Amino acid sequence: MTVLLKLENLRKVFGRKGHEVIGVEELSMEIEEREFFTFVGPSGCGKTTTLRMIAGLEMPTSGRIYFSGQDITALPPQRRDIAMVFQDIALFPYMTVRQNIGYPLKIAGLKKTAINEKCEEIAGILGIYDKLDMKPGQLSGGQQQRVAIGRAIIKEPKILLLDEPLSALDARLRTEMRTEILRIHRKIETTVIYVTHDQVEAMTMSTRLAVMDKGVAVQIDHPKGIFRNPSNQTVATFIGTPAMNILPARVIVGANGTKTLDVAGLKLPVPSRHYDRLSGCEQAEVGLRPQSIRLVQPSSDTINGKVMLKEPLGLENEFVVEVAQGMRLVVVAQDDLAVDEGQEVGLGFNPADLYVFHVETQETLCCGIG
Ligand SMILES: Nc1ncnc2c1ncn2[C@@H]1O[C@H](COP(=O)(O)OP(=O)(O)OP(=O)(O)O)[C@@H](O)[C@H]1O
Ligand SMILES: [Mg+2]
Repeated sequence: MTVLLKLENLRKVFGRKGHEVIGVEELSMEIEEREFFTFVGPSGCGKTTTLRMIAGLEMPTSGRIYFSGQDITALPPQRRDIAMVFQDIALFPYMTVRQNIGYPLKIAGLKKTAINEKCEEIAGILGIYDKLDMKPGQLSGGQQQRVAIGRAIIKEPKILLLDEPLSALDARLRTEMRTEILRIHRKIETTVIYVTHDQVEAMTMSTRLAVMDKGVAVQIDHPKGIFRNPSNQTVATFIGTPAMNILPARVIVGANGTKTLDVAGLKLPVPSRHYDRLSGCEQAEVGLRPQSIRLVQPSSDTINGKVMLKEPLGLENEFVVEVAQGMRLVVVAQDDLAVDEGQEVGLGFNPADLYVFHVETQETLCCGIG
């Protein structure tokens, strides 16, 4: 694959001296041609600032941006071959859909027949052909969003930037539009850089994603890599619903140098290949995804606790189980034991599904101790 966009040590600081606000702390990455690349992270982590720098709407405080190997850091937005769709749709209310979509070509001085032809082609791709002569006010939120995308792609930009395009839509329409945007992406073969704070959106749509936190990319990887091998606890708990359970643990070193993890009273032998990663740690934190836990009969081989809450989710149930010292774990599993709230249960899991984190740095030490 060819690298299309390269961000090199990008940094953006807002405000006057003494009143600085960090927008982006430090960002370096390469985005390949035709990728569907997503920036995901909590509010204020610097997603929009990053997109605005890529679009040329914001000048980086330091660092460089390269487009097909060319330094475009100082290039004005209109010369970048990059289009952006903003979170608030902002269509021209008194213009028809056709005029809205065709606007960039009108500004570029194209003839009316050429503009019409292109508008109709784009509207066909977007599935709003029959809406061309309506005004935005007559369209649903999802249809308006398609018009905004149409206006952005009519000049066939190499990169399409989408800043939380679905956040204003209701849950059902959002799911529908996800598929729709992916279909459009395949059809127009443009590189899409997408911003969302919704981890489900990020995981289901992207070829790769950057999980951002406080102005840095904590991890850049394919969705599977992010899910299976999160680089630290922030990523591990941010990705996946319900969130990964985190429990304190002790690392016990035996007389012969063997290592054992004590998790809520359960002793788990650690295979020797993980000893290096745990060296120097007496305390750790461990993580278990709600879907990795089964409810079993309590025994000395399980973490035991009491069911505080049971909620049917359809095929499965969500349980809240209280274990040692009042710690609560969320479990998503079938109800094989037909448990009642208040009942004692054992939590069964495969050690290969247990994550171990450094107690201070929060860095992932082991992805599974099987
Ligand atoms: N023009 C500005 N002036 C001052 N501070 C700004 C400006 N734009 C952004 N910031 C600050 O930079 C940080 C990153 O903001 P940004 O808008 O990039 O976050 P975001 O990840 O897009 O958040 P959200 O999910 O809420 O849209 C925030 O602390 C924000 O307050
Ligand atoms: Mg934003």
